[in-house]
Amino acid sequence: MSANAPEVKRITTHTLQRMKASGTKISMLTAYDFSFASLFDAAGIDVILVGDSASNVMAGHETTLPITLDQMIYHASSVIRGAKRSLVVVDLPFGSYQSNGDIALASAIRIMKETGAHAIKLEGGEEVVESIRRIISAGIPVIGHLGLTPQSIYKFGTYSVRAKEEAEAAKLRSDAKKLEEAGCFALVLEKIPAALAKDVSVSLSIPTIGIGAGPHCDGQVLVMHDMLGINTEFKPRFLRQYLNLHPQITAAVQQYIADVRSNDFPNESESY
Ligand code: KIV
Repeated sequence: MSANAPEVKRITTHTLQRMKASGTKISMLTAYDFSFASLFDAAGIDVILVGDSASNVMAGHETTLPITLDQMIYHASSVIRGAKRSLVVVDLPFGSYQSNGDIALASAIRIMKETGAHAIKLEGGEEVVESIRRIISAGIPVIGHLGLTPQSIYKFGTYSVRAKEEAEAAKLRSDAKKLEEAGCFALVLEKIPAALAKDVSVSLSIPTIGIGAGPHCDGQVLVMHDMLGINTEFKPRFLRQYLNLHPQITAAVQQYIADVRSNDFPNESESY
């Protein structure tokens, strides 16, 4: 073993494929910084997604469209320093891959080279297959993303459930096959009917990771701010909130303000 060899066995794209084959569900959470990535990694999460949802939850934008490649690289390089065991996947942001395969490859290479991440994710079906092939041919693992693809929000008009009608469901099934054939090692399925997600998951040999796509996917992903209850206004049906941090953080901050104002903090044992 070389002096720089990792002490912990890293989850790889192959681990995820073995998990699907053995029926072991894959857990994925988003993270955008070192501290939460370290926590999630130590807790045993399989995959950390540096999602372009950073545009919403970190930067406060209404959509995922404004976040830049440089900003994603900043978040991803912080996350990677905290992830000793998890596989770290980074979203290609809007505008960094849609134009053509050369641009897509250049963006993916920047992410891999400047962050040390292990894979990228991008949204779309057959229209991005050429870009996916180019990226994979450079040795970069890719996760596809179908169903509700937030970078296309202005085309959809709403964040409601996708592929409820047969025509859209048929396109999604066909896109899923094309992404698998192009070499994606996994697919995110967002906000589609559970029965469709089940069909797709059974028909593919690569794992599907669902968000709002029912229980039959090979894994699940949630945005950390949603599952920890840091957001108050976002409560879709698919979200299970595991903590309710918003009121707890508010109470802690209010207590701190009161302690500072009353001169209770710092006390003697908190002083030098
Ligand atoms: O950006 C993100 O957080 C995502 C997940 C919702 C899958 O793409």
